[in-house]
Amino acid sequence: MPYKRCRSFHCPSSIAYYLMTPRSIVLIGMMGAGKSSVGRCLQRRTGLARFDTDEIVSSKFGLSISEIFSTHGEGRFREVETQVLVELTAGEATIIVTGGGIVLREENVDLLKQLGTIVWLDADEETLFERVSRRSNRPLLQTEDPRTTFSEMSRARAPLYAKVADIRVDTSALTHDEVADVILRNVEELVTTRK
Ligand code: S3P
Repeated sequence: MPYKRCRSFHCPSSIAYYLMTPRSIVLIGMMGAGKSSVGRCLQRRTGLARFDTDEIVSSKFGLSISEIFSTHGEGRFREVETQVLVELTAGEATIIVTGGGIVLREENVDLLKQLGTIVWLDADEETLFERVSRRSNRPLLQTEDPRTTFSEMSRARAPLYAKVADIRVDTSALTHDEVADVILRNVEELVTTRK
């Protein structure tokens, strides 16, 4: 499925969303789900600020994610990832993009819930793996059998994503822009019904 660039304008639904809620849109999901790209689409469409936990962790260390894993280990990465969530305290509506493993820590789940509406970007496993295989920048997939590693990770995490998500979007057959459309429509509906 081609990943098209997203439109750049403020659609009426996104403005309505902005006016109705101070809650952020928080994107979760496996590597390859399109969180970063969809996050940028949502940023353009809504005019809201975007925070990407991987980008923030990376800038704190002054290193790429791969370098953080190889130099400091996954444990240290996870600690700083949690610290970033704590710093992203709720208050104003933003777009928050998270790393695929953010749901692994129980304390992160509570922090995510405080931040806003949680959107799980999902896709069938083949599609997800095909997308991540385009780049070799995922430290957790530097194994002898990345396909099996990915499959195990995906199966272990699916229930964690499902438990915390307010909305699930199957992105398998959608462009980034279409995913953003679905998210904005769903978030607006959710906000309206909760009013
Ligand atoms: C990870 C996913 C990565 C990054 C790190 C760990 C994971 O982010 O946070 O490599 O545990 O799934 P993306 O989901 O943006 O690839």
